[in-house]
Amino acid sequence: KNLFLFLQLLQAGSTYLFLGPADGLHSHSILLDEERGRLLLGAKDHIYLLDPENLAKAPRKIHWPALRDREETCKLAGKRANLECANFVRVLHNYNRTHVYACGTGAFHPTCAFIEITGDKEDGVFQLLPNTVESGRLKCPFDPLQPFASVLSDQYLYVGTSSDFLGKDATFTRSLGPLPDQHYIRTDISEDHWINEARFISAHSIADTYNPDDDKIYFFFREASWEGNDKSILSRVARVCKNDVGGLRSLTSKWTTFLKARLVCSIPGPDGVDTHFDELQDIFLLHTRDDKNPIVYAVFSTSSSIFRGSAVCVYSMADIRAVFNGPYSHKEGPDHRWVEYEGRIPYPRPGMCPSKTYDPRIKTTKDFPDEVISFIRLHPLMHRSVYPLTGRPVFTRVRVDYSLTNIVVDRVLADDGQYEVMFLGTDAGSVLKVVSITQENWSTEEVILEELQVFQVRLTASSPILTLELSSKKQQLYVGSREGLAQVSLSRCHLYGQACAECCLARDPYCAWDGHSCSRYVPASKRRSRRQDIKNGDPAIQCWDYDDNIRLLEEKVLFGVQNNSTFLECIPKSQQAKIRWYKQNLGSEHREEVSVPSHPYFYTIKPSTHV
Ligand SMILES: *[C@@H]1O[C@H](CO)[C@@H](O)[C@H](O)[C@H]1NC(C)=O
Ligand SMILES: *[C@@H]1O[C@H](CO)[C@@H](O)[C@H](O)[C@H]1NC(C)=O
Ligand SMILES: *[C@@H]1O[C@H](CO)[C@@H](O)[C@H](O)[C@H]1NC(C)=O
Ligand SMILES: *[C@@H]1O[C@H](CO)[C@@H](O)[C@H](O)[C@H]1NC(C)=O
Repeated sequence: KNLFLFLQLLQAGSTYLFLGPADGLHSHSILLDEERGRLLLGAKDHIYLLDPENLAKAPRKIHWPALRDREETCKLAGKRANLECANFVRVLHNYNRTHVYACGTGAFHPTCAFIEITGDKEDGVFQLLPNTVESGRLKCPFDPLQPFASVLSDQYLYVGTSSDFLGKDATFTRSLGPLPDQHYIRTDISEDHWINEARFISAHSIADTYNPDDDKIYFFFREASWEGNDKSILSRVARVCKNDVGGLRSLTSKWTTFLKARLVCSIPGPDGVDTHFDELQDIFLLHTRDDKNPIVYAVFSTSSSIFRGSAVCVYSMADIRAVFNGPYSHKEGPDHRWVEYEGRIPYPRPGMCPSKTYDPRIKTTKDFPDEVISFIRLHPLMHRSVYPLTGRPVFTRVRVDYSLTNIVVDRVLADDGQYEVMFLGTDAGSVLKVVSITQENWSTEEVILEELQVFQVRLTASSPILTLELSSKKQQLYVGSREGLAQVSLSRCHLYGQACAECCLARDPYCAWDGHSCSRYVPASKRRSRRQDIKNGDPAIQCWDYDDNIRLLEEKVLFGVQNNSTFLECIPKSQQAKIRWYKQNLGSEHREEVSVPSHPYFYTIKPSTHV
């Protein structure tokens, strides 16, 4: 099935593939620059400069291997040569107009450098500047597969990662900056309730008000927590002020504005106990007209060993801010539980950014009273949790043999409204294209529009999606794995079929029936003959030639041999199609419906069956 779908993608002309060297590309980071029309790919021992229009075009590349002795040390430490003891490029950020900042794992010895890119794509400058090579500790993970978060803002680099070979001590730091050795700062490690065994997921620079002094870095991670009675994994949203320069007498060179809160994503269980999706896997910010209020999409998985599942929850910045403006959490001592803090809160309110506009005496975090510093040291956790906008996930996948790992979201204008289409990467090498439709009565319906098997090594082994990037402008999705980087268009309308009804039933906001074929829906060229119904997918209203019994019933006859195992397949054109299997012996008039519970696309005739 998977191989078939991939071939179908290729035949549909909607995929370009960049494979790189034979021992794997290891597509770890993507820097898509739509303005300059370039795509930088951070991979194993290389940085590639690709044409986002066509990945198949020969790329330019920078060879950046790990140092030979680092590779040897890495192998001696028992790490795997091809998968760990190389330079996996994981950090790529635009620094200024001409330079990109890049970091790689350097065979468990992280290293960073500036890349200069100027002039033409074909013959301009594209080089690593050897005199800028520096240690990448606290800027890049040691381990190529460990999650981490980084964002570059105003030439400062903010990174959440582990700071050692063993990957234990995780911190959130700020480094780099327009001037050397300016305001290097990190989370406090003396208190384990600041950040504990964290796995950072993503970081973003978001303005909170119209006052630039209030600008913050919001970051997302999961960590071990003892909030319940046992140690468990919980997901967090946290923030720091961009103008934090640390404390004066204590918390020097440490964040003095760090606050964190729990992110909850759960569904009510049958027995009244909620099922929690507690392990954050990825975050996508969908921008709105208001820069201060992007919509936060989050992918979670369960940490339960008995029950495998993933979910997508959506949060608003307003709800996140309300939690940070609410009560703090308090823990009296090591043997006590976290409870709501009900004592006096010092001034200025801990977690607020210093600003002359608010109080001329407090220009920087070094002006904070000692009381504020000691309060934040002990109360970094907010008492309330952040709940999703709709109260529950917008999409869940449970009891399937894969987990969701990545998300990007596109806003699509259709005939009957605006839809947010989610592209979800899985650890099985596939991408699900999903839309969550809200009906008039506020019930939501999850519709899987397409299931694209992008990477398939052998029929049995699939390769997890490592990177996912979307270009709404170019209508392209970039999907990276260990094997390669694929460019897939956001829609393949013609695959839904040759009839209006088939197009309509697919409910894909990108596609509409134009009177002749199922094609890309362009809102600007609105024509009468365009037929689309995302909300209900009802062809009876949309298609004049629709007949429930005749038009849609497509019959395919497949033959099997008696006493022989035969593999029959029937791949539907759309995820919304229904498939029924009937069995009929040769020469007999009678046919009998058979149920195919596990995989509706296949039917295997067992040797003992007579057909
Ligand atoms: C960009 O940054 C690099 C590295 O700090 C510097 O050498 C270069 O002059 C800067 N370029 C511009 C246009 O500011
Ligand atoms: C909402 O409407 C849909 C059909 O439009 C229906 O299937 C669903 O049961 C309704 N839900 C509630 C809670 O009324
Ligand atoms: C098929 O197998 C059945 C028993 O499994 C046997 O009775 C029958 O004779 C076989 N038919 C042929 C054509 O081999
Ligand atoms: C069973 O089917 C396979 C292919 O479908 C064929 O090669 C083989 O000869 C068949 N065996 C018998 C006993 O009919």
